Amino acid sequence: MNIGLLTSGGDCAGLNAVMYAFVKAIDPDAEIYGIIDGYNGLRNRLCKKMKRSEFADILNVGGTILGTSRLPYKELTKLEDNETIAAIKDNYRKMGLDVLVVLGGQGTYKKANLLAKEGIKLICLPKTIDNDIFGTDITFGFHSAVNVATECINRIQTTAASHGRTMLVEIMGNKVGWLTLYAGVGGGADIILIPEIPFDIVKVIKAAKKSHDEKGYCVIAVAEGALDKEEAELSKKERIQRREERGETTASNRIARIIGEQNNTETRVMVTGHIVRGGNPSPYDRVICTQIGAYAAKLVNEKKFGATVAVCGGKITHNNLADIAGETKFVPKDHELVQAARAVGITFGD
Ligand code: F6P
Repeated sequence: MNIGLLTSGGDCAGLNAVMYAFVKAIDPDAEIYGIIDGYNGLRNRLCKKMKRSEFADILNVGGTILGTSRLPYKELTKLEDNETIAAIKDNYRKMGLDVLVVLGGQGTYKKANLLAKEGIKLICLPKTIDNDIFGTDITFGFHSAVNVATECINRIQTTAASHGRTMLVEIMGNKVGWLTLYAGVGGGADIILIPEIPFDIVKVIKAAKKSHDEKGYCVIAVAEGALDKEEAELSKKERIQRREERGETTASNRIARIIGEQNNTETRVMVTGHIVRGGNPSPYDRVICTQIGAYAAKLVNEKKFGATVAVCGGKITHNNLADIAGETKFVPKDHELVQAARAVGITFGD
C-alpha cells in the first residue's frame, strides 16, 4: 500500500509525534510518501518517498518535517476550488497513492471531505491549538499550547504586580475560546474574555478596578476572537467593517485604552501570537499523539477510510468525516470549567 502523509493548516507541536507513531505502527510493507506543504503539495505534486528512519527521532520535535500551508485553498473561488480538486485527484492517481493520511484542523477537514466525495481514500487526524474540532474532546497541539500560553500569563503577572498595571494577554484560538479559557484558569487570570461569552466593557472595567483594589494589579486573558455584546449582535461582515473603521483587528487594545482611561491605571497588551504554536510537544501531547498515530495506522491497516480519529472520554476512537467536517466545537457558556472559573472569582465580563 502506498500511503501519502500530509500536514495542513497552522502548524503546532505534535504533528511530528503523530507521524512518528503512525509510521512505527503501520504495516511494515507499506510505502510512505511525504506530501510537501499540505494540500499545496498535492496540488503541485510535491511528494517524496520517505525512509522510515526519517521519522524515527521526531516524537519530541515541534512543527512538521513535511512543511504545511494554507494554500492553495485560502480565498479560492468556487471554480478555482473545483479546478484544484480536479488537479489534486489527478495528481493523487499519478502519484500512485492508495490512501491519504491528513493531519489538520477545521479547514483541512472540510477540504478532505470534498476529496473523499471524489473517491479519494483518506483518514483525518485532529490537529490544532484551537481545540475546535467537533466530535473529539481534545486535539493534538492544544495541550502544548496551553502550557505556553499559561507560562505567558504567569510571566505577565510578575510585571503586572511589580508595576501595579492592568495587563492584557491576547491568545490565539481563531473563533473559539478553549485555549484562552484553559490558559486563563491555569495562569490565574482575573478576567477571561472569550468569543462564546460576549463581554460588557463596563463590567470589565469594574472587575479590573476590583482586582486593583484587592491586590494592586489585574491580568486579563483575551481570546483573539473575543468580542463585546454590541459586536456579537453584528454580522461577521459588519463586525470586520467596524473594526477596520476603528483601525483594530482584535479587541485587546480598545479594552486596554478604555480601562486605562476609566480606572486611571497603566495598561499594557501582550499578543502571544504564534509563540503558543511553537516549540516541542508537551509530554501529554506526545502520549496522545502516540495513541492517535497508532490508532490511525490500525484504521489504515484495516482499510477503514473516510474516518476521523478522535479522543472521547479518554478513549481513542473515530467518527465519520462527513459528520464532522465543517462543524465547530465552541465553548459551551455553562461548561464545567467556566463554572469552576466563576466559582473561584474569575469574571468573563458578562
Ligand atoms: O488555527 C490555528 C491558528 O493558530 C489560529 O489560532 C490562528 O487564528 C491562526 O491559526 C493563525 O493563522 P496563520 O498561521 O495563517 O497566521
